Amino acid sequence: GIYLNGMFADRTPDLTTDLAALEDQARAALAPEALGYVVPSAGSGATARANREAFDRWRIVPRVLRSGARRDLSCEVLGTSMPAPLLIAPMGVQTLAHPDGELATVRAAAALGVPYVHSTQAAHSFEQIAEAGGDAPRWYQLYWPTDREVCLSFLERAKATGFSTLVLTLDTPMLGWRPADLNRGFLPFLRNVGIANYLTDPAFLAKLDKPVAEDPGAAALHWAKMFPNPGLSWADLPFLREHWDGPILLKGISAAEDARLAADHGMDGVVVSNHGGRQVDGAIGALDALPAVADAVGDRIAVLFDSGVRTGADTVKALALGARAVLLGRPVLYGLALAGQEGVDHVLRCLLAELDLTLALSGYVSHRGLSRESLACAQRSA
Ligand code: FNR
Repeated sequence: GIYLNGMFADRTPDLTTDLAALEDQARAALAPEALGYVVPSAGSGATARANREAFDRWRIVPRVLRSGARRDLSCEVLGTSMPAPLLIAPMGVQTLAHPDGELATVRAAAALGVPYVHSTQAAHSFEQIAEAGGDAPRWYQLYWPTDREVCLSFLERAKATGFSTLVLTLDTPMLGWRPADLNRGFLPFLRNVGIANYLTDPAFLAKLDKPVAEDPGAAALHWAKMFPNPGLSWADLPFLREHWDGPILLKGISAAEDARLAADHGMDGVVVSNHGGRQVDGAIGALDALPAVADAVGDRIAVLFDSGVRTGADTVKALALGARAVLLGRPVLYGLALAGQEGVDHVLRCLLAELDLTLALSGYVSHRGLSRESLACAQRSA
């Protein structure tokens, strides 16, 4: 079908269908500061490399003659229906990639029914995302502000605007060591970009001495007092449980013991992730962390995965190693940078089609048939 041009009859012709290569195309489209913020990883880049190396060590073992004419990738994760086990990872400041920012991304996601995860650090507010996303499924990613009134206000606004599920990101108690940004002294938030949820929040605005228009710099500095929140501990989670009725996932989990603690604390899921290598330099590849987490809690809570997913085969590997769904990060921003909503649509449709094709070629009618038996571990290269 794909080759007969059905699905891609109207695809964006200048964008490559090789999502791993899309980064090279996007580099040319991004302004230097945006490029420095979006593409690189923390420190020496070792974690981002480890993410890719982990995928390369696993190989799919294709099966044949298994009646694969009809395939079904649809699924439900924690009450959210989706066309395939794929969500868009929460990513802030998307106006760095394209003037339409998150609005373009959420529109593309909504058109395909792919769940969108709204970042606390987005360049558009809860209300704007909800309006652009319509009835499509959406989750909210919380960076827990140091101020509890602001935290509660965010949760209330998320509820009021139709976000069903909460993702609490824990690998960013403060920003990682990111040389590309440090060398430029660039942090978008200090220019009031990527703090739209704050700048539209009554609880936050009430704390400022002057209106934002009169003293924009003070608003950014006040944000900076709320964002790094290294004081959080497991003892804080009951507060969140008390104030959020829907499912809660903890994102940024690498250790099986943390996944066990998440389940013990009544969380509904974890996202195995190292933030695409943007936080701890020299960390374990996310896919290397996945099997132990799935073994520890996979039968109790939902295990999701991100960091380094670029292809249908990557997705198959993560699902086979125990993820219920994967989140796609940077490639979405590359599509956004290159062609706005159309570019995000292109990226999502490529990944959905490549996932379907990879399953078909590997002998599976559904991702539900995947297991560790579907893979072989290749020798570590010398
Ligand atoms: C992110 N990520 C992220 N995560 C999060 O929980 N809240 C956020 O606001 C952001 N912001 C953000 C901005 C940018 C520019 C990037 C590239 C990433 C991390 C994101 O959710 C995800 O974990 C990684 O992007 C996944 O890795 P890949 O797919 O980019 O390799």
